[in-house]
Amino acid sequence: MKIAIASDHGGLNLREEIKQLMDEMNIQYEDFGCECETSVDYPDYALPVAEKVASGEFDRGILICGTGIGMSISANKVKGIRCALVHDTFSAKATREHNNSNMLAMGERVIGPGLAREIARVWLTTEFEGGRHENRVSKITAFENKVQG
Ligand code: RB5
Repeated sequence: MKIAIASDHGGLNLREEIKQLMDEMNIQYEDFGCECETSVDYPDYALPVAEKVASGEFDRGILICGTGIGMSISANKVKGIRCALVHDTFSAKATREHNNSNMLAMGERVIGPGLAREIARVWLTTEFEGGRHENRVSKITAFENKVQG
């Protein structure tokens, strides 16, 4: 599994924590910034990374900003992206099992590094359940195809 990860300046520290976690888990990843010497605009990082996941260049993506909200809103504009904004481990597991989320967003200003690491660990290791959930996710894909071609 290959992960694309990015953050804005508000998520810089947590991005480093999650990269460290992926090193420990032997998960391959590529870091798409930001360098964050000044404040940056989260769509400039969320959108290209979401496109890399949607195209299949990366299997999944992780985005971090201050709240996780701007990153998740932006990523979900890209066709084929199901980005889940998650701040608890129950949702981390459920969104993989039920929604087959292919991107995870978190907010560094919302949760501490310990919880964020656990959320990422659960999200990275949980499989989609398929079955009745496949049908529901397919309805989202069908809508995207109808609206965006
Ligand atoms: C940056 O100040 C902040 O707005 C951003 O990190 C994020 O929280 C946006 O949703």
